[in-house]
Amino acid sequence: MNILFLAAEAEPYIKVGGLADVAGSLPPAIQQVAGAENVDIRVILPFHGALQRQSLAMHFVTQVQLRHYPQPVEADVYQLEHTDITTYLINGALLSPEAPVYTSDTGVDGIKYTFFSLAALEFCKSIQWKPDIIHANDWHTAPALYAIDVFADPFFSQSGKVITVHNLPYLGHGAAEALSVFGLPPATNSTLPVWAQQLPLPVGLYAADKIVAVSPTYAQEILTPDFGAGLDSYLVTRRADICGILNGIDYRLWDPENDPVLPYPYGIEQLSLKVKNKIKILQDFSLPAHADVILIGMITRMDYQKGVDLAIKALRSISDQPWLAFILGTGSPVLEQAVIQLHHELPDKVQAVIRFDPTLSHQIYAAADLLLIPSRYEPCGLTQMIAMKYGTLPLGRSTGGLKDTITDNHDPSISCGFLFENPAPDELAETLIRAIKTYQDHHAWKSMQINAMKQDFSWNQSALKYYQLYKEIYQYHHPLDKATRSNP
Ligand code: GLC
Repeated sequence: MNILFLAAEAEPYIKVGGLADVAGSLPPAIQQVAGAENVDIRVILPFHGALQRQSLAMHFVTQVQLRHYPQPVEADVYQLEHTDITTYLINGALLSPEAPVYTSDTGVDGIKYTFFSLAALEFCKSIQWKPDIIHANDWHTAPALYAIDVFADPFFSQSGKVITVHNLPYLGHGAAEALSVFGLPPATNSTLPVWAQQLPLPVGLYAADKIVAVSPTYAQEILTPDFGAGLDSYLVTRRADICGILNGIDYRLWDPENDPVLPYPYGIEQLSLKVKNKIKILQDFSLPAHADVILIGMITRMDYQKGVDLAIKALRSISDQPWLAFILGTGSPVLEQAVIQLHHELPDKVQAVIRFDPTLSHQIYAAADLLLIPSRYEPCGLTQMIAMKYGTLPLGRSTGGLKDTITDNHDPSISCGFLFENPAPDELAETLIRAIKTYQDHHAWKSMQINAMKQDFSWNQSALKYYQLYKEIYQYHHPLDKATRSNP
């Protein structure tokens, strides 16, 4: 089975958000669960400027030409060397070396990613490598699936199409023009709402055989008006094709026992060492080094989705309680400012570091007692799973993947975190107070930490589910194979 995996970003090469973690770790996990079965999974990424500035070992493979109006455009394909999974990079005049992975201008990104998606298909054809499954991720690569239907090239007539939705509201607004210059007309024959018929994600969903949401709860939520980004009625009609598969995390990268950037590595057996990481970070960042005051960590994109504003309001409202907080992240300038403001108001309680800093993020996971994730919606969320491995209890809103991974029965012997229902500062504040009280009961807290550290969110189960889904789609597109097998 040949699998073409398309994504805008992937670890360890280029990372902006959670998509990179998934695109970096899912393909090898699928390869692993396939074992001795013949699976050839290949990843293709755009040759972003940030990748061009790294000196990655690679070689030129070929150049392909794409239909584009008013004249065709060329794409150059490179292959990375020394990789476990075959990985290609696509470059071309439409991919500016100065451009970041994502800009705020979806018109510009639309051109880049439609170019990328179509070049990936053209490349497979030029090397005569027929994908049995084309797996797109989010709006950026969704045009590849739609193009298969529109161009009806016999080369791809048996290719199955899967799309994973990591974040539904990012539909690719503003990219309609981009689709049309590459010869992709609006999907007027579809039952998509008219406004969505020329947007990348909707047309990709329309073309996909199967739609995967990154957690079972999110798969249900996107069928409702609150989470459906205007597509809920359409998605309800596709209910039979939608499933939720929880993301996994790569424990080779997230293991407090073998984490090279921790001052004091620790595991479940040496949990008492965890507090040394806490004291170190409090001292390094000029917070009072109170080992017995709960340290609340927040590692996040500063985004409305992530409920940063809710966290600020809730923390401010309980400033008379014993807690310390460490907030790390970048994003919306308004939210960045609001976090800095909170630090100025409560300099002895709150530290805020406004930057993208993977090393510091590992150190906060290790140092914090509680990780705050008050997301308004959370398709999956990886931070809560990482936190649990580090014995840091997650406090999240009961939505999407947070609901699927955080067990909160209000009983420390069987819980591993704290959940609240509605995205309201007072509910969050109440739950914070519940966590602070639990923290003061050492026995209860430790029992929850151990429950959390014992959870298994590795890719094994989820990669198997993806593989089974691929097989199902494969059989659908190869009915003759099935007949041959049942009637030898
Ligand atoms: C997006 C979602 C996040 C998910 C990640 C990987 O960033 O917001 O919830 O974990 O994609 O699927």
